[in-house]
Amino acid sequence: PASFSVVGDAREVGEEAARFFVEVINNNPRANIGLATGATARSFYTALIKAHTELKLSFAAVNTFNLDEYIGLSRSHPNSYWNEIVEQFGRHVDVPLTQIHAPDGAHQDPEAAAAVYEGLLASVGGVDIQLLGLGRNGHIAFNEPGSPFDSCTRPVDLTTSTLQANQVHFPSGETMPQRAISMGIATILKARRIVLIASGQAKAEALKDMLRGTIGPHCPASFLRAHSAVHVIADRDAARLV
Ligand code: GLP
Repeated sequence: PASFSVVGDAREVGEEAARFFVEVINNNPRANIGLATGATARSFYTALIKAHTELKLSFAAVNTFNLDEYIGLSRSHPNSYWNEIVEQFGRHVDVPLTQIHAPDGAHQDPEAAAAVYEGLLASVGGVDIQLLGLGRNGHIAFNEPGSPFDSCTRPVDLTTSTLQANQVHFPSGETMPQRAISMGIATILKARRIVLIASGQAKAEALKDMLRGTIGPHCPASFLRAHSAVHVIADRDAARLV
């Protein structure tokens, strides 16, 4: 990667990642920023909100693009990823909610919704900087192991590992979606800059595979090594095998 920082804990991971985004938005207040959901990203949103309140960073002209969305959940569903971005970030800053974008998980034709999203990303000229989390199985967005290098935004089936990891976010009794619409590997690699964050020991194997293993679909995150401006930020627990 272009840089690899190891910091003390999950909070510092988010703060370090936010610095890259603040720089991009300072240089271009109309930036297109790619956002990730998940537990690791929480401290990142806290840091961005702080940049808004304390440094007066404005998101008024920024457009945000989610990596993925569950199929079958409408935007207003409490567990939709669109809603997660609004709750954790959007409603705490000055970005108009119309500028928060995600694939339409409630569309009756997920293939069509995926194509619309890929088209939207192209029509805005692509993402200036993309945040990525890392799945325990090496996934990025919902590109599970086996995802090809040339994949675009598409409907995908979630693996057992991912379903188990994410079930905790769904109240007991509610079955979580088994499918999602996800940006593809090729879609993600079009971003001008990429910041991948990982915290906690559950990510240690995946981070090692990503950085030190062979590049291939067995570890979708390993494809990031084909991009020249990827910044990896991990805490000590996640980086302990690297
Ligand atoms: C999820 C999401 C990803 C996320 C990753 C890590 O399933 N689709 O966008 O970055 O897996 O999530 P977490 O940070 O909760 O471990």
